[in-house]
Amino acid sequence: MHSKTYLEYRLISKKGEGTFSEVLKAQSTVTGRYVAIKCMKSHFDNSEQVNNLREIQALRRLSPHANIIKLIEVIYDEPTGRLALVFELMDLNMYEWIKNRKSHLPENKIKNYVFQLLKAIEHTHTNGIFHRDIKPENVLISNDVLKLADLGSCRSINSKQPYTEYISTRWYRPPECLLTDGYYGPKMDLWGVGCVLFEVIALFPLFPGKNEMDQIKKIHNILGTPSQERLQQFQKLATHMEIKFQTREGTGIDPLIPHASESCRDLIKKLLIYEEEPRFTATQALNHPFFRELKDDTSAISHSPSIPDSDFAAGDKDSKINKKLFPTINKPVKNTSFSKITLAMDKSISKNLPHLKQASPYAKKTVHKPYY
Ligand SMILES: Nc1ncnc2c1ncn2[C@@H]1O[C@H](COP(=O)(O)OP(=O)(O)OP(=O)(O)O)[C@@H](O)[C@H]1O
Ligand SMILES: [Mg+2]
Repeated sequence: MHSKTYLEYRLISKKGEGTFSEVLKAQSTVTGRYVAIKCMKSHFDNSEQVNNLREIQALRRLSPHANIIKLIEVIYDEPTGRLALVFELMDLNMYEWIKNRKSHLPENKIKNYVFQLLKAIEHTHTNGIFHRDIKPENVLISNDVLKLADLGSCRSINSKQPYTEYISTRWYRPPECLLTDGYYGPKMDLWGVGCVLFEVIALFPLFPGKNEMDQIKKIHNILGTPSQERLQQFQKLATHMEIKFQTREGTGIDPLIPHASESCRDLIKKLLIYEEEPRFTATQALNHPFFRELKDDTSAISHSPSIPDSDFAAGDKDSKINKKLFPTINKPVKNTSFSKITLAMDKSISKNLPHLKQASPYAKKTVHKPYY
């Protein structure tokens, strides 16, 4: 039935590795287009399970958007249970962009990127979803274009709390995630943006906690302890621990990034407010003076595709014509592309088996980042 859309890929190199997947750079032998193939480490029993995947469901609801990664095709091999998601290829993630840099990046460039990140988050929240894993590795860039990726941890805003406590990567986890039994919401994504914005400005992470307690301590060291009122709110939503901290002042954000503009530092502070209510929404952040000169020029950013449209011709068809069917689940072409993909997956996954075996969702999500 879907035979017309079967695409074959030539694998080129490994592009990235996540907790749940390995991402390979490949080229379509049909269209010549370069793509990123996200090979899932888990196996899936049937196509219904594949269809219900959070990442696929979220992308279905959010696409197309200029700042959200484009899913081109889903390849599912029922006999082996293997699943690969084919995405448009981006150059690098934000962590790769800043890693090993000795001198600060131009604030204008950062501003451009963070504006697009906020556009993606605004769109996500408007559509009833929050991302839950905002971090530099999940933000992809190609030239001047930024796209939000890895929607695998998304939740629906309307779903019932409490949520899983140990979601999102520790360093970017907001206080309500760290201190309550899962009573958090979309504002957590904005805390994540505050941390990311700080990190690309400073070239070091803001709160690189070594464990849960250290994470809270690192936040207090800089922001000071929360108000008594806020602590009481946390305590009401936390049965697993007694929340008691000795009141202390923090160092503040300013001395850590003296080279940043006043408006940049102000925006970071508005994104890192302990209370969720006054913490900025994506829309409020986009209207902050930091982005003043960009506001009149949004069309230039949000409508410029990272790759010329012609390159997308084949893979775009389904998502453009019938959003309900998007994405079409394709079977791999027998004995060709997918067997090569799964072979590559098997090789690298087997290397990681000991790690995978012991990884609980908590351990997985709190892997200590390599650069600290
Ligand atoms: N479309 C893409 N283009 C280029 N590189 C990509 C693309 N998608 C993913 N990558 C690279 O692969 C890495 C892992 O991808 P992704 O975050 O989607 O996987 P994951 O297994 O869900 O990760 P996590 O550990 O964050 O849950 C990214 O950090 C990025 O470096
Ligand atoms: Mg990721």
